[in-house]
Amino acid sequence: MKLCFATNNQNKLKEIQALLGDKFELVTLSEIGCLEEIPEPFETIEENALAKARYVHEKYGLDCFADDSGLIVPSLNGEPGVHSAYYAGPQRSHDDNINLLLQKLSNENDRSAYFKTVIYLSFQNEYHAFEGRVPGTIIGEKRGTGGFGYDPVFVPQGHDRTFAEMSLAEKSKISHRSIAFAGLIDFLENH
Ligand code: IMP
Repeated sequence: MKLCFATNNQNKLKEIQALLGDKFELVTLSEIGCLEEIPEPFETIEENALAKARYVHEKYGLDCFADDSGLIVPSLNGEPGVHSAYYAGPQRSHDDNINLLLQKLSNENDRSAYFKTVIYLSFQNEYHAFEGRVPGTIIGEKRGTGGFGYDPVFVPQGHDRTFAEMSLAEKSKISHRSIAFAGLIDFLENH
C-alpha cells in the first residue's frame, strides 16, 4: 500500500521504510508531484502536522503522515515551540537560535525544557496522532558537535551529556522523534 511521508528528506524516508518493511511503500512529496511549499500557518506543533497530512490527503488523495517537532521551554511560556527552526529570524541559523535561547534564559532559574514531536497520519479517512517527548535541561554553554538544532545545549533527563555529545544511535534510543515514530510504526503494523 502506498503511503506518503510528507518530507523530501530521503534519509528520513529510508530510515522509516526500513522499519516498516514492505507492507507499505513510502513515497516523498516530490515523488507524488507535490513541489509547492505546504503552508504551516498555525501556532501549535499539532496543528501544523495535521495541516500537512490533511493537505496531501485532500489534494493528492493519498494517505499520508507528517511530523513536526520543536523545543518547549515552560519558563519562557513555551518558546521557541512551533517557531524553533526560525526562533532568531528567517535565516534559520541553529547558532543564532541557541544564542537567543541562552540570552533569554540568562536570568532564569528554571531551565527545564522538553523536545516534542507530533505525527499526524491520515489513514482510511481518519486522522491519528502520535506524540513523543523527551524532558531535559538547557545548559549555559554549548557542548558537543553531533546532532543539529538545539542539541548542543540540551541534556536529557537522567543523562549528563548533551544530545550533541551522544552518537546518533544513542540519541535515537531516547529521542522524541523515535518515540513518536515507534507509535506510528506500531499502529501501521497492526492495520
Ligand atoms: P522539525 O519539525 O523536525 O523540522 O523541527 C523543527 C525545529 O525544531 C528544528 O529546526 C530544530 O530547531 C528543532 N528540533 C527538532 N528536533 C530537534 C532535535 O532532535 N534536536 C535539536 N533541535 C531539534
